Amino acid sequence: MKMRKPIVVANWKMHKLVAEARDYVRRFRPLVEGLDRVEIVLAPPFTALAPLAEELKGSQIKLAAQDTWHEAQGAYTGEVSALMLRELGCRYVIIGHSERREHCKESDELINLKLKGAFAYDLIPILCVGERLEERQAGKTVAVLEGQLRADLAGLAKGDVARLVIAYEPVWAIGTGETASPEDANEGAKFIRALVADLYDEATAQSVRIQYGGSVRPENIAALMAQEEIDGALVGGASLDPVVFAEIVRRAQGGEEER
Ligand code: 13P
Repeated sequence: MKMRKPIVVANWKMHKLVAEARDYVRRFRPLVEGLDRVEIVLAPPFTALAPLAEELKGSQIKLAAQDTWHEAQGAYTGEVSALMLRELGCRYVIIGHSERREHCKESDELINLKLKGAFAYDLIPILCVGERLEERQAGKTVAVLEGQLRADLAGLAKGDVARLVIAYEPVWAIGTGETASPEDANEGAKFIRALVADLYDEATAQSVRIQYGGSVRPENIAALMAQEEIDGALVGGASLDPVVFAEIVRRAQGGEEER
């Protein structure tokens, strides 16, 4: 029996204009009405955050941004701070997604600063870590995860880490239709939790929620959620359709019932 409340997040990435985002929420809300044993979070592009905050009034569904900057304000052209995201009603923020690590050359040092910036304004980060295909093939999965986490979490307070969400997203499973097997996903999550226990303590490790991400669909969510160490999912492509994502949420919650 898991003590942690599962969290399922829709990462829309760079998809949906404001009108499409509003339409999605109008269709999605009734489909997940009353589902409250799973935390449901939508992460639209920045441009849709304010309109969705309005659409989601009175609903249990929470909002996340897909990135943030580490300072609250200043001469950082093009960036958006945690303070600003908080003002819009965000509760969560994705940090260190592999697409940002790759395309925007984000380093673990920057990700570490962003985590601190998010916590400073009471946003809960969803920190993404994961190995690339060549790293996995070279047997370096654990070393990669350890290197990322040690650098990303450096200097973070225990109380903050306890509230953190960590998404284990093997890069080779993102957008490829190839999912890690539930056992492999669980092994990754288990390693992450053990490392948090090592860096902090067992109680902190037990309170961190660890998601799996990478080609999650309605067909594979139940088997992933049935794993001991997996507390939810970070869903890309399959979250773009409200009916499909609602089904993922429903099955994620159903998985809890079966235990
Ligand atoms: P897909 O679900 O499209 O594989 O994307 C996963 C992901 O990157 C979520 O952040």
